[in-house]
Amino acid sequence: MLLMAAVRANIPARWIWAPRTTNARPRIHTNQTTINLNQINQLHQMAKITNTKSSNSPSSANASSPSEPNPMNTKITNYIRAGYPGLYLVSPEEQRVDAEMKQIARDLKYHLMFWSAVDGLVDTSKNATTAANDPLEALVAIRDMNDKTIILLRDFHLFLQDPNPILIRQLKDVLQEAKTKSKTLILLGCRLVLPAELEHELTVLEFALPGKEQLNQVLDGILESAQLSVIQGEQKDKILDAASGLTTIEAENAFALSVVETKSINPIIVAREKAQAVKKNGILEIIETRESLESIGGLDVLKEWLLKRRHAFGQRALEYGLPTPKGLLIIGIPGTGKSLTAKATARVFGVPLLKLDAGRIFAGLVGQSESNLRAVIQTAEAIAPCCLWIDEVEKGFAGSKSSGQTDGGTSSRVFGSFISWMQEKKAPVFVVATANDVSQLPPEMLRKGRFDELFFVDLPNQQEREAIWGIQIAKYSRDPKDFDLVQLGKMTEGLTGSEIENAFVEALYLAFDGEKEPTDLDIASVLTEFVPLSKLMAEQIAGLRGWAKGRARLATSIGVQKGLRRIG
Ligand SMILES: Nc1ncnc2c1ncn2[C@@H]1O[C@H](COP(=O)(O)OP(=O)(O)OP(=O)(O)O)[C@@H](O)[C@H]1O
Ligand SMILES: [Mg+2]
Repeated sequence: MLLMAAVRANIPARWIWAPRTTNARPRIHTNQTTINLNQINQLHQMAKITNTKSSNSPSSANASSPSEPNPMNTKITNYIRAGYPGLYLVSPEEQRVDAEMKQIARDLKYHLMFWSAVDGLVDTSKNATTAANDPLEALVAIRDMNDKTIILLRDFHLFLQDPNPILIRQLKDVLQEAKTKSKTLILLGCRLVLPAELEHELTVLEFALPGKEQLNQVLDGILESAQLSVIQGEQKDKILDAASGLTTIEAENAFALSVVETKSINPIIVAREKAQAVKKNGILEIIETRESLESIGGLDVLKEWLLKRRHAFGQRALEYGLPTPKGLLIIGIPGTGKSLTAKATARVFGVPLLKLDAGRIFAGLVGQSESNLRAVIQTAEAIAPCCLWIDEVEKGFAGSKSSGQTDGGTSSRVFGSFISWMQEKKAPVFVVATANDVSQLPPEMLRKGRFDELFFVDLPNQQEREAIWGIQIAKYSRDPKDFDLVQLGKMTEGLTGSEIENAFVEALYLAFDGEKEPTDLDIASVLTEFVPLSKLMAEQIAGLRGWAKGRARLATSIGVQKGLRRIG
């Protein structure tokens, strides 16, 4: 008691935590309809009952049966059996982790305790509570616990954000002692907050997102609750594919919402909800795109390269033993269709497109960038097969060259992890990175083995400009036959695809103002005032071309480059 009093006196006031005031469910927002939240809550409650009812049976939604391989369960079990005193589980899925830990404790015949600042220490076998709400009190109580106990500590990372030296010491002492007594402390948090003092004391484990089998059980739970018939075959695969990358709660929400909106489970609604869920952290976004290879004028070599791989993510390719393509780096002059190609790539492979804002990975908090990257990789791998598009990659990873001068080495460390993931990844995640400033690109990125190919996109040649004019004119609902594409191509030498589009849009404005349809003459008149980027940036473009020689493959074939006729 005396010790406790002395310890308590040192706890800063900010550690006194207010009790939970509400148990309200998070609100579900959709941009289409106002949903009756009561209906959804009812479904959740019923689904929960269904899941708890079967929680001891092999078909439980939360705990996998012994016959199903559950790598997460095996991993944690092995760590506990090996006497690891401290694990740090990173996961936003508290309920799933709880269920998994109950299963593990049962299998290992260990005692299981839960701790939170609100509930104190709860003995799960007796449902008895010890009022050790303060983290220090909890650690002291843990020291006195019996051998063979697992203690799951919720939100403990929040106390490590600005750590109290006494708390750190106490935790280290408890961990030391736990080693000899078959006790394992498991810190559970939605993100990683690990002060240097604890880096070697705790083993960090990323709790994997639910696999198809677990999502399937969530789906069955919702179908049963909503009294809908079981879904099988292709339709079920579509729903599960749409849900992969979601947590169990998010998947349950999406399924329930779909039932309320359509009285069935519609993969399109699930995919829409996933797009919103993925967007939440602002780093990843699922892009819906209509762009296909037909939207791109020119770039024949690049298109051919992609087409050759169009079945690479299919079952047949897997059976054939084809290695899944890693990715593509597209370098080139601004406005020449790099982003456009990245979008079309996903269509070629027939997979979802995820856009990564690399700059956003680097958050202010220490350790946050690493966990951001891990979350990105986890989501991409769960959604796989997919395309991961990193636009203007040089800007996102620019800080990685600083070698620790400006940010304590975080950027280079995170970049290093990203690069090694790219090289070693087994999941079918095809990375398409685009860049237009090679001087900012970290050299490691260009090394062999990172990308399957590196393409350079130059200014379009005559034949390509003609094709781009045709595409752009059709894009704005006009008939290319009404225009002289060859002449337009000649007039726009030195212009990028993006500038050709701008010129046509200008001509449309001009014609609209004159209350008529646009003609070649309107375009010619717009072009007289046009200063192409290639004039303004002549030096940079020459530099880029020089750099690309021998380093990158040309996206346009030489024959086409020279404007030669292609035969055959
Ligand atoms: N080869 C092309 N064929 C058809 N349209 C093109 C082509 N290149 C550019 N465009 C048009 O220009 C727009 C902008 O191109 P895009 O964003 O792909 O350029 P970018 O190379 O990514 O440029 P930046 O380096 O500035 O990001 C496209 O949406 C498209 O309408
Ligand atoms: Mg771009």
